[in-house]
Order: sequence, then C-alpha cells, then structure tokens
Amino acid sequence: MSSHGPHRRTTIHDLAALRAAGERFVMVTAYDANAAGLLDELDVPVILVGDSLGMVVLGHETTLPVTLDDMIHHARAVMRARPRALVVVDLPFGSYQQGPEQALASAVRVIKESGADAVKLEGGARVVPTVRALVAAGIPVMGHLGLTPQSVGQLGGFRVQGRDPDDAAALVDDARALGDAGAFATVLECIPAGLAARVTAASPVPTIGIGAGADVDGQVLVWHDLLGLGPGPDPRFVRRYAQLRTSIIAAVTTFRDDVASGTFPAPEETYGDGPAVDDAPGAPSA
Ligand code: KIV
Repeated sequence: MSSHGPHRRTTIHDLAALRAAGERFVMVTAYDANAAGLLDELDVPVILVGDSLGMVVLGHETTLPVTLDDMIHHARAVMRARPRALVVVDLPFGSYQQGPEQALASAVRVIKESGADAVKLEGGARVVPTVRALVAAGIPVMGHLGLTPQSVGQLGGFRVQGRDPDDAAALVDDARALGDAGAFATVLECIPAGLAARVTAASPVPTIGIGAGADVDGQVLVWHDLLGLGPGPDPRFVRRYAQLRTSIIAAVTTFRDDVASGTFPAPEETYGDGPAVDDAPGAPSA
C-alpha cells in the first residue's frame, strides 16, 4: 500500500478479509508525517495515532492529560503524509466518558478536522451505547480492552488484566458486545495469552494484541518501542526491532565532538565564494 504504488486505501473490510483468510497483520503507532510516510512505504495496513502520544512524545507520565486538540494536531500531521493505511485516532480521556453525545461530538471533530478514518476508545459494556451511536453516525470504531491506560488509577497501575476468572469471563463478553455493537476491531492489551485466544475466538471482529500473545489476528507496537527509542526498561511484550536510541546517542556525540575538533563542516560541506552553482539546498556537493 505504498503511497507511490497503485494500491487503494485500506478499509475496515480489508481487516475482516485478512482475518477470514487467516493472515496476521500489523498496526503501528505514528504521531507525525515522517513516521506515517515511512510506515506507508512499508505497506503497514493500519496506523494508530495513539494517545500514547502523551507518554512517548509529550512527556506526560500517563495518557490522561492528552487533549482532543493534541490528538487532532498529531492526526493532521499523520494525514499530511497521505497514507494508504487505515488511520485510527484515539479519543483521549475526557472526550467521550460522558456518553454517546459527547463521544459523537469528539469523534466528528477528529474525522472532520484530521481526515482520519476511524476512532478508538477504551472500555467494554460501559461504552457499548457509545460505540452504537458512533457507528450509527457512520464513524468506524475500534475498541480497546484489557489494560486500558485511561483507567490506570482504577486498575491500580499498568498491570496485566484478566487473571481473575470473573474478569476473564467479563473480557470475553465485552469483546463480543463491542463487535456486536459495530466495532470493526478490538485491541487487547496486556492479558494472558490463553485468555486472548478465548477472546479472539468469541470476538466477531479482528483482535489486535499488545502483550496478548500470538493467538490474535494482528499485533500493534508503539513506534518508540518498536524502534528502541525509549530509555527503557521496556514492558515484557516489547521487542526492539532496532536500537535507535543507541544510534542517536552515537550520532549526536560524534557531531558534538566533530564540531569541537573543527572537523565539521568539511570543505565539501561548505558553500564557496565563487559562482552560485551549488547553492540549492540538497544540491550535490561535488
Ligand atoms: O495509545 C496507544 O498507542 C495504544 C496502543 C498501545 C494500542 O492504545
């Protein structure tokens, strides 16, 4: 689904088709145009503008302070990359908890002002009327169960959910109810792998896991975790597919040392006093 290729945009029906075909897919978070453009070149089918934004970009300790304006600002940046991916935007804490009417107003703003495709919200039975209202208004909705970071206070911290048999049964029911209400997919965060498999079997729509084992339909990772940008330690479910923090430290340290020693910039990195043949930014230096 490269922005340079012939592919059309991913739709919610494509995810259902992937599930039906038994093909696992990925979702990756992005918060800016650069990341979204890269993910699109790599045919990542779903981009999530997650409210993890608050923690990995904005420097908050939780996702709770993130505002609807923050989400729209970053969703607009992602959409400027014109990705072919399905772009899902988190409704942040405080923008839908009052009920369907508030959720609809918030979701309409996200879709209208950013051009993104869908919204995600956290919760089970409690948000079913809200999911119904958004879907009835034509807005695709992704659910989110298990460790729901917007309820971190109520959950007593960022911890694995669904170990208690009653909680596990409720999670299965919640996933079924979200799908029946019209959600097109559900994120399962930080739950035991066996429970995730049960939830996936019960869910009428694709499940996307993070810390939920392998028996789900798709996997999501946060950009900064996937690329090794954070200071660590990482949660158990993170696999760093690159060590960009280490690369950045080496690069900036070398830049600082090169400037101190006078080896940067070199003559070939410097504009001369002669005819303006090489003045265009990015022009070959030779
Ligand atoms: O905000 C986010 O990035 C998320 C993912 C962890 C699923 O909700």
